[in-house]
Amino acid sequence: PTVRLADYRPSDHLIDRVELDVRLDPRDTRVTATLALRPNPAGRPDAPVVLDGDDLTLLGLALDGEVLAPEAYRADAASLTLPSCPQRPFTLRIETRLDPTANTKLMGLYRSSGVYCTQCEADGFRRITYFLDRPDVLSVYTTRIEADRETAPVLLGNGNPVEAGDIPGTGRHYTVWHDPLPKPAYLFALVGGRLDRVAKRFTTIEGRDIEIAIYVEPGKAERAAYALDAVERSMIWDEQTFGRAYDLDVFNVVAVSDFNMGAMENKGLNIFNDKYVLASPETATDADYAAIEAIIAHEYFHNWSGNRVTCRDWFQLCLKEGLTVFRDQEFSSDMRSRAVHRIGEVRTLRARQFPEDAGPLAHPVRPKHYAEINNFYTATVYEKGAEIVRMLRTLIGETAFRAGMDRYFADNDGRAATVEDFLRAFEAVTGRDLSRFAEWYERPGTPRVAVSGRYDAATRTYRLDFRQARPGAGADAPPLVIPVSLGLVGADGPLDQAVSDRVKDGVFVLEAAEDSLTFTNVAAEPVPSLFRGFSAPVRVEASLDDAARLTLLRHDSDSFNRWEAAQRVATGLITAQVRGDMMEMTGADRFVAALDTFLDAEALRDPAFAAQVLALPSEGDIADEIGQEIDPDAIFAARRALRRRLGAGLCDRLLTLREALAEPAGTLFSPDAASAGRRALRNAALDLIAVADPATGAELAQAQAAAAPNMTDRLAALSTLALLPGEARETGLAAFAERYADEPLVLDKWFAIQATIPEDGTVERIRRLQRHPAFAMTNPNRVRSLVGSFSLANPTQFNRLDGAGYDLVAETVLALDGTNPQVAARLMTAFGSWRRLEGRRRSLAETALRRIAATPGLSRDVTDIGTRSLAG
Ligand code: ARG
Ligand code: ZN
Repeated sequence: PTVRLADYRPSDHLIDRVELDVRLDPRDTRVTATLALRPNPAGRPDAPVVLDGDDLTLLGLALDGEVLAPEAYRADAASLTLPSCPQRPFTLRIETRLDPTANTKLMGLYRSSGVYCTQCEADGFRRITYFLDRPDVLSVYTTRIEADRETAPVLLGNGNPVEAGDIPGTGRHYTVWHDPLPKPAYLFALVGGRLDRVAKRFTTIEGRDIEIAIYVEPGKAERAAYALDAVERSMIWDEQTFGRAYDLDVFNVVAVSDFNMGAMENKGLNIFNDKYVLASPETATDADYAAIEAIIAHEYFHNWSGNRVTCRDWFQLCLKEGLTVFRDQEFSSDMRSRAVHRIGEVRTLRARQFPEDAGPLAHPVRPKHYAEINNFYTATVYEKGAEIVRMLRTLIGETAFRAGMDRYFADNDGRAATVEDFLRAFEAVTGRDLSRFAEWYERPGTPRVAVSGRYDAATRTYRLDFRQARPGAGADAPPLVIPVSLGLVGADGPLDQAVSDRVKDGVFVLEAAEDSLTFTNVAAEPVPSLFRGFSAPVRVEASLDDAARLTLLRHDSDSFNRWEAAQRVATGLITAQVRGDMMEMTGADRFVAALDTFLDAEALRDPAFAAQVLALPSEGDIADEIGQEIDPDAIFAARRALRRRLGAGLCDRLLTLREALAEPAGTLFSPDAASAGRRALRNAALDLIAVADPATGAELAQAQAAAAPNMTDRLAALSTLALLPGEARETGLAAFAERYADEPLVLDKWFAIQATIPEDGTVERIRRLQRHPAFAMTNPNRVRSLVGSFSLANPTQFNRLDGAGYDLVAETVLALDGTNPQVAARLMTAFGSWRRLEGRRRSLAETALRRIAATPGLSRDVTDIGTRSLAG
């Protein structure tokens, strides 16, 4: 059943107030919902009430206190219909039963390691009670939660706590929560369980005294300290940056170990995958700390961009997700190094969104139709959605952007809004017409922008010609509005005296299919620095040679483009070899020499940035660049050859750097960006040394793995070792597993390292590990670590020429679909780029896809991915 944006119409009924009474029981939970309904003036008159349900058992139903006769309604597992009901406000009292223990989909109300918790976005609330489960129905909720006191001493709901007590003689107790702000059902949550707590008081800029608390598995409280601090920093940042303050008396975060995604922004009660809360130097890497900070911020920021202003329908998902990703990116950039963070954002976009946009699962940032909404929580909606917000800011400038955000929040507070409402706020404050800019939301595919430059020495001018094109767009498709941040760079540095009247504040706006601009006062042939800071999510085709790019690496004022220059040179060298040219010796030598100079000047000044420059484009980046007839083995070999050249050419410098960056013994671990940057560069150096000189690399890695004072260094050493076949690797892996036998989140790293070994035997190793006692198909983190990382980060083995990699993933998808279709469908997206593979692999991958698609009884989630992957 396809849902279409064009078919949107308001609900025929509204629900103003919800009173829920939830009596928790592991197998027989009872929910009594009292709903204050009324006809929606914007709906159809005399329409029947049709409430959504999913897997519910109806136990009782009363209208205005009168028990309804069976002929007055129709109830089944998927809906509850009242064909005729009063044309005035009325109440419905609905009693249902559900089984949290049997809920393996992890949608609705379920138990995770003995903790009751919920996940309602996008449509899980209907698995708790019959409801108008759509985001444009906003209600005020009061929730009473009752449970066994012994096993569930902590009972949490949305909003503020108003009452708690024992139920004498039963061993049970209850709490009552009231959330004064109207919200859609997808933001409902409750938690019940035995949990430890860390808390801190905070006073908002508006003077509200609140308590921030984080609840975790017993014994893990000290691992929540970093997350707690991140909540407080997020609150302060949103007050200062966007003028947004928190609006309840308590802000609770709960970490659970079985969770389908990263986290969820339920009003006043964020629920997290514990991977994004728990951290200690011994168990978490620098990347984990950064992800915790970002996701804590993301969910908190949703309190305004998502909760106070919510979405009219699920087509508007980017309205909250793109905007909130943009906000969390800005937060992390302010907390860390902006330039390094931007590089990370673009790496993610290119690794996940570009391939999605180039394959059969491509869709607009605002999709026009869907069969299963849970399959649209994608890199396109999130990451490309964030890039659109970023482009808007670049176009109108920082000050107008802030004013527009204020206007958006003011005009839409308490409402379910659309992308049009968002853009209207910026039109209102700038007086600009953004209707052409809105095109970014409407069409899939990554635009290409070709740029060429010509210098005229006689007139001292430099002309740039731009041409934009969109894949699959007809000739009549309107061009996009593309902000191009740019500047010119000369042999000795940026040419700030060169000017063009088409460039304002460093930005040229490309609005036509073709356009050009001319800089005057250009003393000598310059190198253009284009799309500084990655000012638009496009593929840039610039006719620059390596010498020009290396000039940018050396002299550009824009860090992103310095990094990008090195990436482009490396990509050129690798793809040339993949295409069968010999690794161009002098080109590679010049690259090594340029990196040597770069490291000499920058490595100790900005280690985090230097580590990014040293990290070559991934195999996936190269595949995406090549775009068709992809041969993962050839890419792997070419990339490794270049890594060898770098490792060999820079070996002495890398060894020296490792010494210079070593932490003095006894240094207290700090996850801050500068310390993390030094570790990153040290470990990048180790990796390059090891690829060029395996014996030295193994020795260094073994020593580091044994003595590392933190997880970042221990894991980096183990990753390096994992790439070196032999005894040392197996010993290192075994020692790690023993040390962390009781730490599931750490064993996830161990699973992932093994799953990404680029050697024959990995598929078999994964099959063995699927039987490891620490592995469980019921836990999404385990599945993603072992099978997800294999499918996404081990291209040579996933794409094995005998099809064994595809079979492994297909079997896992099928094994999982019966219990957890959302995770199964997500895993299946690894096949999304199958059409771009070379012939043999293409047909093997297609066979695996068809085998999944032909299996009877598939979930809607997996069916949808299968259908779209194979279509066209
Ligand atoms: N809103 C959550 C977040 O981005 C994610 C919810 C994902 N839900 C889903 N059904 N996939 O913070
Ligand atoms: Zn989100």
